[in-house]
Amino acid sequence: MKEPVRVAVTGAAGQIGYALLFRIASGDMLGPDQPVILQLLEITPALGALEGVCMELNDCAFPLLAGIVPTDDPNVAFKDADYALLVGAMPRKAGMERKDLLEANGGIFGPQGKAINDHASRDVKVLVVGNPANTNALIAQMNAPDLDPKCFTAMVRLDHNRGMSQLAEKTGTHNTDVKNMIIWGNHSATQYPDLHHTTVKGQPALELVDMDWYDNTYIPEVQQRGAAIIKARGASSAASAASAAIDHMRSWALGTPEGEWVSMGIPSDGSYDIEPGVIYGYPCTCKDGKYEIVQGLEINDFSRAKMDATDKELREERSAVEKLFA
Ligand code: NAI
Repeated sequence: MKEPVRVAVTGAAGQIGYALLFRIASGDMLGPDQPVILQLLEITPALGALEGVCMELNDCAFPLLAGIVPTDDPNVAFKDADYALLVGAMPRKAGMERKDLLEANGGIFGPQGKAINDHASRDVKVLVVGNPANTNALIAQMNAPDLDPKCFTAMVRLDHNRGMSQLAEKTGTHNTDVKNMIIWGNHSATQYPDLHHTTVKGQPALELVDMDWYDNTYIPEVQQRGAAIIKARGASSAASAASAAIDHMRSWALGTPEGEWVSMGIPSDGSYDIEPGVIYGYPCTCKDGKYEIVQGLEINDFSRAKMDATDKELREERSAVEKLFA
């Protein structure tokens, strides 16, 4: 058995937390031979609820769960963390402008970025789930100057999984038949689900569906899936978001299969003419705990326009929070 690793989770008593912690502790995220110590951060009023979650974690008697540290102090939660899943965030309240939401979250993700900078492992893997995920990840990263910016990622994997599932349904196949879709850009309604490089049972996806369906049904339905879940369930997606977070971290830590990629929100580096300065969804392969952007994909005018639109939104979000950078 390996030495335990430390996994910090914020918002641990929330609905995503409740769907996430038990899967991390059972080995779904890091594999059946990797013990974990869970370091769980909540705000002070939620510590009672968090205690209940910890009781249930203990009651599962998970063989891989090597310890639990519940706390309301980010410096404790991120101490020596090898992985950090930043789920807790400020929800949008009635009358709140997007700018107010961005700023309110800056008040959470700035200090958390600093605590990660000061206390986490030097090659910590950070995944931001709390919305607006890409810009929250940017705020955290900009407050962690001692760490490699590549330590900070945002979740677009739920959109990626939704895109695979909806394409499988349309083509009468299973999601495992669908390979290499891409979510470019922001985890928001401007995200661009790109099927130009996707295959279904080895065949190009866009030879199996018509462009009208792709442009006018598929893209908006993937973009708006979160809203459709809220309408149907009366609450935002939680188990599927937790599952996507598990997928994101597992791919990053344990690697992607040969010839396949996944979508990750990562610091832009000029690839595909997305200038540095935002956390942007890219196709990535992972190996030995590192990710790389898939290079050399052909981008046509249709894709270019959509990739630039989501980039523009991310840069607007960035300019609303720049004052929060360390
Ligand atoms: P929730 O409201 O059930 O739970 C959030 C938890 O975070 C609460 O327990 C709250 O006390 C805690 N929290 C708030 N501020 C905190 C802080 N400063 N430090 C530590 N904990 C804090 O919300 P839910 O459903 O679990 O969603 C969490 C976030 O994930 C939301 O921002 C939501 O929009 C986002 N989300 C992101 C998705 C993605 O694909 N990137 C998909 C679905 C949800």
